[in-house]
Amino acid sequence: MRVLFLAWVAFADCKSSVNRHEIRKIPDGILFGTATASYQVEGAWNEDGKSESIWDRLTHSTPCPVKNCDTGDIADDSYHQYERDVEMLRELGLDFYRFSLSWTRILPTSFPDKINEKGVEYYNNLIDEMLKYNIQPMVTLYHWDLPQKLQDMGGWTNPHVVDWFTDYARIVFELFGDRVKYWFTINEPREVCYEGYGGPSLAPLYNMTGYADYMCAKNILVAHAKTYHMYKNEFSKIQGGTVGIAISANWFEAESEKEAEAAEEARQFEWGTYINPIFSKNGDFPAVMKERVAAKSFEQGFFRSRLPEFSPEEVELIKGSSDFLGINHYTSKLIYRNASLTSDTYPSPSFYDDMGVMSYYDSTWESGVSSWLKIVPWGFYNLLTKLRTDYDNPPIYITENGFSTYEGLEDDSRISYYRQYIDAMLDAVDEGSDVRAYTAWSLMDNFEWLQGYANRFGLYEVDYEDPKRTRTARKSAYVYKEMLRTRQLDY
Ligand code: NOJ
Repeated sequence: MRVLFLAWVAFADCKSSVNRHEIRKIPDGILFGTATASYQVEGAWNEDGKSESIWDRLTHSTPCPVKNCDTGDIADDSYHQYERDVEMLRELGLDFYRFSLSWTRILPTSFPDKINEKGVEYYNNLIDEMLKYNIQPMVTLYHWDLPQKLQDMGGWTNPHVVDWFTDYARIVFELFGDRVKYWFTINEPREVCYEGYGGPSLAPLYNMTGYADYMCAKNILVAHAKTYHMYKNEFSKIQGGTVGIAISANWFEAESEKEAEAAEEARQFEWGTYINPIFSKNGDFPAVMKERVAAKSFEQGFFRSRLPEFSPEEVELIKGSSDFLGINHYTSKLIYRNASLTSDTYPSPSFYDDMGVMSYYDSTWESGVSSWLKIVPWGFYNLLTKLRTDYDNPPIYITENGFSTYEGLEDDSRISYYRQYIDAMLDAVDEGSDVRAYTAWSLMDNFEWLQGYANRFGLYEVDYEDPKRTRTARKSAYVYKEMLRTRQLDY
């Protein structure tokens, strides 16, 4: 009954929208899907041989660091409910599903000496079930759940992580590459490094900004590039897949004309760090970043820059090491340079001190549950336009875009967010941006990191009171489905 009612509500809403908007055709060729990540949905944190990841360690620590002391121990129980997950993908009529693999489920020792058959079986089942219905798997190798054992050895700050990661990747290509044709090495390297090693907002809460985040950035780029070349040299001829990376890129708008340079600096520090080495001709960290970190380091009494350098071989390795650019985009910020930002503002070296600019959200921008998530669709258009012009129009996969609300099943603000953002994306496509895929985050509610289950991003609602973790389609699920079926933004 509830489902019928929702279908009707969605239908009524759609009809009224015909009067509000023009009908906009979605060009053929753009694939549509949804995404999740292993720790956020799988649960079964210690079942069938899986070992401890940095998120298991963090969520089990005291005092509990996550809102409401939530953990991903059970999460959405996808480990046991993959068939229902695939049923939802079918209900939505998706071209693909982007999910990630749990390193510690596949390699419990962290190394390739012991492959956990049960873990492999889970992913085989999921992939096979999707392929039965012609839904393409898009697989992320690393979405934040590093083996704890590797973290104990420095994690992403230890240069040996390059070998650890490529060895894991090789096993994964061997196991699943006959069926998986879209690979992402790392999800959001900026968040892994800056939030996890620089700041205290993602595991492992290393909290050494200005040092550890830069070491992580270098190692993660080298690990990505080596994995890319390994796939190209050893697998692509037989398996015929593509490999890329998913980089978070929000839009940074100058507060006023005179802040244009400050805004550009924010873009270079925030996402140029990862996009520039891979997609620009010089294959290195952005020039402005190198200059500013070196200058600050010398000012602080260092004998060398805190930003590590790439060797000429590494530059060659990283340059061009992606078949496409995966973009996770959610929101925008206003940027200005604050003359009063001095070493006293940030007494110890820090990423933000190095960048030397400040940001804020315009108070007129609407937001959802996450205070950082303001609705600014023109920022998405600006971002896509800039990527097209600065990086020679690379093939782009929008690997995440979505909105969190408290609205329950009738999630009109999420619907409005999706419509406005896809509309903005299509404006950029009309002007020549080579967007090949769009991914809604997320298929269903899930463990939103330090926010636990309080922030809901799902097209499907998950009932966390229910041991079965029942999933129910929200109104946005119907709208997304109809959008894809009719290939029209409004219908
Ligand atoms: C990006 C991350 O990849 C994902 O894990 C997270 O849930 C969403 N942003 C929403 O914050």
